[in-house]
Amino acid sequence: MTDTRDLLDEGERLDGAALRALQLERLRATLRHAYAQVPFYRESFDKAGVHPDDCRSLADLARFPFTAKADLRAQYPYGMFAVPRERVRRIHASSGTTGRPTVVGYTDGDLSLWSDMVARSIRAAGGRPGDTVHVAYGYGLFTGGLGAHYGAERLGCTVIPASGGMTSRQVRLIQDLEPRIIMVTPSYMLTLLDEFERQGVDPRSTSLHVGIFGAEPWTEAMRREIEERFAIDAVDIYGLSEVIGPGVAQECVETKDGLHIWEDHFFPEVVDPITGEVLPEGEEGELVFTSLTKEAMPVIRYRTRDLTRLLPGTARVFRRMEKVTGRSDDMVILRGVNLFPTQIEEIVLRTPGVAPHFQLRLTREGRLDALTVRAEARPGAGPGDRDSAAQAIAAAVKDGIGVSVTVEIVEPESLERSVGKIRRIVDERPKE
Ligand code: DLL
Repeated sequence: MTDTRDLLDEGERLDGAALRALQLERLRATLRHAYAQVPFYRESFDKAGVHPDDCRSLADLARFPFTAKADLRAQYPYGMFAVPRERVRRIHASSGTTGRPTVVGYTDGDLSLWSDMVARSIRAAGGRPGDTVHVAYGYGLFTGGLGAHYGAERLGCTVIPASGGMTSRQVRLIQDLEPRIIMVTPSYMLTLLDEFERQGVDPRSTSLHVGIFGAEPWTEAMRREIEERFAIDAVDIYGLSEVIGPGVAQECVETKDGLHIWEDHFFPEVVDPITGEVLPEGEEGELVFTSLTKEAMPVIRYRTRDLTRLLPGTARVFRRMEKVTGRSDDMVILRGVNLFPTQIEEIVLRTPGVAPHFQLRLTREGRLDALTVRAEARPGAGPGDRDSAAQAIAAAVKDGIGVSVTVEIVEPESLERSVGKIRRIVDERPKE
């Protein structure tokens, strides 16, 4: 069993008390920097009647106002920047599928910090200098590709910058260049799985030993599926562009027990999504981040909309966050019952006769919303197998989640495949 504790960096070696002291010092500096340089923060602190000097303990952070995605959008493009534009070395942006994109910026120092955090993440996943890393996260404005790329280089790895797409070429590259590590969304890993099989290559026979999967929610059932089908260790990486990109938190390969938050640089809180009250460790709520060392775009109490809970450290001193299995944006409310796509993923993956590909179609029937789960038959599954799969899925959703859905078992290879982040919900409800 790999032990990744042999190569810790300075931050990872801190003890609890030293970590808290460092966090407070950095937090105070960040609050001052944001207040002095960003009119948005100055106004929002003034409005809430707080000043950076009011922060004397980590708990005092709760007195400061939240920052929401809408605030970042309203400041588009450069309003959140805390340094002159000439010091901004790189821009990334969120996809902007639901309105204006949000733009984020990095100084040289921020880029270096980001590389360090991704290098730390790859090491926690079992990567070592000298390893070859295949990066199949998309390159471009999305932070996945370039973030993984520079982190792997920082660790001293050889990088294959494959980016997303051109799936048959990906399989060729993996066979020929023999990477030990792959970094990709879990849904695109499944697309690669199909392609290996289509080309008649045993996916268990490759040089891959570790997969570092993130950018979208995935479940323990998906971990088992990927580990088994590829004979690799599958670990979770978390991050978001507004905070820095990938490398905010990472699961250690030796424990696979949730993600250690690199909290010497990103301070987490979990709050009640409705009241905004800070919740005690262990309780589930919305994850909120404050950057502690970023220069170009410090974020203060940024609401991620990701739902999780904080847990004590294990393989590292840093606290863990539980795997993010739900995002408030992806929650479907069906006749009063809350449902997340990951709950359906668990069910589909344990149902015989269906492949790990599914989609959720939301429609309106009269005044009520209705959900159809479309899952793909495995090649060779006959009509009887398909009927029993449909019944099993419907029954498991009814028993486990408490709501009735329609299940359609569709032909193999008929659902849209992911090349990056997968879209699980197809919303066909009439617009209000
Ligand atoms: O997805 C950064 C990233 C790239 C993370 C590659 C990991 C690997 P955004 O495009 O800004 O950034 O999207 C951020 O994606 O708020 C979560 O909802 C979701 N997300 C990211 N990682 C995970 C994960 C990148 N491991 C949003 N599990 C976040 C669940 C994740 N959801």
